[in-house]
Formats: sequence, structure tokens, C-alpha cells
Amino acid sequence: MALLNVLCYPDPRLHKVAKPVAQVDARIKKIVADMAETMYDAPGVGLAATQVDIHERIVVIDVSDEQNELRVFINPEIIWSSPEKKSWREGCLSVPDFYDEVERPAQVKVRALDLDGKEFEIETDGLLAVCLQHEMDHLQGKVFVEYLSMLKRTRVSQKLKKRAKELLGER
Ligand code: NI
Repeated sequence: MALLNVLCYPDPRLHKVAKPVAQVDARIKKIVADMAETMYDAPGVGLAATQVDIHERIVVIDVSDEQNELRVFINPEIIWSSPEKKSWREGCLSVPDFYDEVERPAQVKVRALDLDGKEFEIETDGLLAVCLQHEMDHLQGKVFVEYLSMLKRTRVSQKLKKRAKELLGER
């Protein structure tokens, strides 16, 4: 396994749209293992392939307290979302040290493939529902800060560009 480099907003590669996985084979399993390792190392509760510059529809999530319940979603699709919305304070490994409220459907039903290439469905609410929607946005090239006002987005973008420059300067 290997740790993967996580792209940082406003990297343009975060806006690429991921392609469906054609077949869940050894290559995909290796990507999933590396993504899981990268997510746990960060640590984070979710990671989309887009964030590690792999533009295929793969998401890993672990919202458990013990960080021992890895969930893998390959080619995930939202097949239903509730009319009720809920607001959560979200963060993202691609937007370090920034959190803000985003309103999304409170419940979703998602269809995806597991690591054996078998289709499954899950209906969920709470953090898992938020996380699924957040990660699936990544696969469409969307970062959560795009739900915020232009002013906030510009501020985050400037702050992260400055931070990237400082990090480069330290090397
Ligand atoms: Ni994210």
C-alpha cells in the first residue's frame, strides 16, 4: 500500500469529472487500498478518487468512531434523496483547516458496487449521508466550498494559495 498525494483546493484537477469504473479488478482494489490508507493517515472520514488525481468513480468512507468500518463505493449513484434538508458543518482534506455549513438532503439512497463488483444499495442519514453526498460531488468535480458565497470562496482560495507558497518556501 502507499500513501497518495491529496490535491489541495484551488487545484484545477479537483474539477475533473470522474469516469465510471469498467471493471472491479486488481488495479481498482489497489487504488481502494491506497485511498483507504491515505484517508486513515490524514485522518479523514471520506476520500474520493478525484482528490488523489485518479479520475474514476471510487469513494472510500469510514464514519465510525473507531475508524474500523471501511465502506467502499464504486460507481456510486444517488437514486433518491429526501425533500427535507439538513445543514452540517463540513470540512475536506482538499481544503485544509476550513469548515463551513452546507445544506443538503437529510437522507439519501445510494446504489454502488462493492469491492467484489457486486451491486448494493444503502439508505442512510446523518454523517454518512452528508459524507456520501460530499464525496460524490468530488467525482463530479465539485468541492464543498462551491456551495458557499463567492466572497468566502475567494478568501479560502487566497488563504490556501498563500499556504501552498509558504510550504514550498520551507523546502
Ligand atoms: Ni472533500
